[in-house]
Amino acid sequence: MAIALAMKDAPRVTATSQHPLEPLTGDEIAAAVSILQQSGRLGPKARFVLAVLQEPQKEIVLGWSPGQEVPREAFVQILDNADGKVYEAVVSLTESTVTRWEHIPGVQPSLMLDEFFECETAVKADAAFQAALAKRGITDMALVMVDPWSAGWYGDESKSYENRRVLRAMAWLRSEPGDNGYAHPIEGVAVIFDLNTAEVVEVIDTGAVPLPSAPGNYAREYISEFSDTSEFRKDLKPYEVAQPEGPSFSVTGHEVKWQKWSFRIGFTPREGLVLYTIGYLDGGEVRPIMYRAALCDMVVPYGDPGYNHYHKNAFDCGEYGIGMLANALELGCDCLGEIRYFDAYMAGSRGSVLKMPNVVCMHEEDFGILWKHVDWRTNQTEVRRSRRLVVSFISTVGNYEYGFYWYFYQDGTIQYEIKLTGIMNTGAMVPGDTCKYGTEIAPGLYSPNHEHSFNVRMDMMVDGPKNSVYEVHCEMEPEGPENPAGNGYFAKSTLLKTESEAQQLVDPLAGRYWKITNPHALNSMGKPVSYKLAPGENTSAFQHASAYVSKRAGYMSKHLWVTPYEADELYATGKYPNQSQIDTGLPAYTKDNRSIEDTDLVVWYTLTHNHIPRPEDWPVMPVGYIGFSLKPAGFFDRSPALDVPPTSAKCCTSTSNGSYGSSSNGHNGNGHNGNGHNGNGAH
Ligand code: CO
Repeated sequence: MAIALAMKDAPRVTATSQHPLEPLTGDEIAAAVSILQQSGRLGPKARFVLAVLQEPQKEIVLGWSPGQEVPREAFVQILDNADGKVYEAVVSLTESTVTRWEHIPGVQPSLMLDEFFECETAVKADAAFQAALAKRGITDMALVMVDPWSAGWYGDESKSYENRRVLRAMAWLRSEPGDNGYAHPIEGVAVIFDLNTAEVVEVIDTGAVPLPSAPGNYAREYISEFSDTSEFRKDLKPYEVAQPEGPSFSVTGHEVKWQKWSFRIGFTPREGLVLYTIGYLDGGEVRPIMYRAALCDMVVPYGDPGYNHYHKNAFDCGEYGIGMLANALELGCDCLGEIRYFDAYMAGSRGSVLKMPNVVCMHEEDFGILWKHVDWRTNQTEVRRSRRLVVSFISTVGNYEYGFYWYFYQDGTIQYEIKLTGIMNTGAMVPGDTCKYGTEIAPGLYSPNHEHSFNVRMDMMVDGPKNSVYEVHCEMEPEGPENPAGNGYFAKSTLLKTESEAQQLVDPLAGRYWKITNPHALNSMGKPVSYKLAPGENTSAFQHASAYVSKRAGYMSKHLWVTPYEADELYATGKYPNQSQIDTGLPAYTKDNRSIEDTDLVVWYTLTHNHIPRPEDWPVMPVGYIGFSLKPAGFFDRSPALDVPPTSAKCCTSTSNGSYGSSSNGHNGNGHNGNGHNGNGAH
């Protein structure tokens, strides 16, 4: 392949004056692939795992000014199916050369999209697999679903395929082509499949459990036609979002400006949506808050210790690629209103360019009230509607869906929220048996307890690159002369000086949060400007430290981690977690216990959603939520939301009392005068 292509001219991409963080275009990915193919380094069975922008050094990006030319580079991972070797390459698109080529020994890169299909096809054609299914009375292979679970690492048990690129496949059965097969798990059969050689290594059969037969269908045709107990409800009237003058944001390339916010959008196969250079316009200048923010890892450890289930520990970012699995979003279904979509481009494993249309959705949402006060003496009401900007993507990982949402608010708040939906993982059980480690969700069908543990990496730069982090919690003042009525309490703030001091857990009963401050930038009260990380729902990891998954994803054991910035420390589980035996991520990054005081630092936050399945989560799970916020805490001198204008009253229909428009439009008639506010004096 390399020799044949060497006859052609290498495509050339000149240095451009576009922003250095603009993602690779389809043409640039094609050029990177072509330059590598012509370099003579690729064997005939080489495949492209990913090709992404090699992000220029931070100093170059921050020092860039419009018009300046910055060389373009691609970072490419390559897997050679012939010998299983993995390579990293950096390709200069500007110079049409390979500037770095390195064999990375002892690692497995994440899965490639076409490997999923190769695995399913080969496993279904395998005689030993077919024999195991025949023992269970299953002969129609067209109705069998083979899901490619990552193989992980389980000590001695995994040793026989230690140096192979393997999946651990599990199977489900549809009753007909449109049926939800996850209702019918084929319990007791697992397949070790080698992706390099495309062969079944081992079929593990631990014995049959009766196939659950109850249907678990949710698709429209089953609700409206086949179900005798339910049909679509008929009382839902249309709800439309109208923005007659269009959205309030502007987009240039991948740069977004909305209200006083500005940031850039990127997208990678592993992380999905990446936000860069988040800043807020204040006093005529853009004040930086974060340099780079992305979900960097997630793990879903299952809690059933049974042999068929303890292998379920999917690393959806590092093993599968949450960005690679992103949906093409649809107007009116996934997002509502005036939408701006962004496409992404990725390298197909055989060197093609994959255009992923509409993977990122951006739109505005009304979010209730932003602030309000009624001066009950003058009867003047001031109320503002809250508008938020939503930037999101949704991925399908086998049976599950995850939506990832960044929200920007007019009061300087940034919020991150994950929406969990899709179909729960299932197993078969003897109907009516006790189900200690899960919930029976249909007769003979159960879903194991599990957690969804996410980690979001935030490269902070609150008003500049050098920041410090404080832990803050509340304490009661001891009873005594300083606290005669026993009511006194205070927020205690402690500087976190080292990486080990920053490894912390949430503590909602003490009101714990963390503050990222810039000791060199003071607000008008003379205090260092800060943003605070306000946790939301969270739980601890319910795996022992000795668990195999804990040894590979140690980040789960702490909610907060802080590291000094290192350009190649990007992932909580390290660069190559697929089939990893040890953790090369946060536990390794932090082992020297570096200083994190007054330096360029990165905050890593772990959010763990604990999922004890409910029958109501079946057959398709209504969205569950988990998230956190970054809120200005002394970053501004007062509320930055005072200049949000009142809403025009015309958006209310004539049947309402008109009370939420401009300041004096009908309050006298709406009952406020008579409801006791005038007389009670205090709230
Ligand atoms: Co779940």
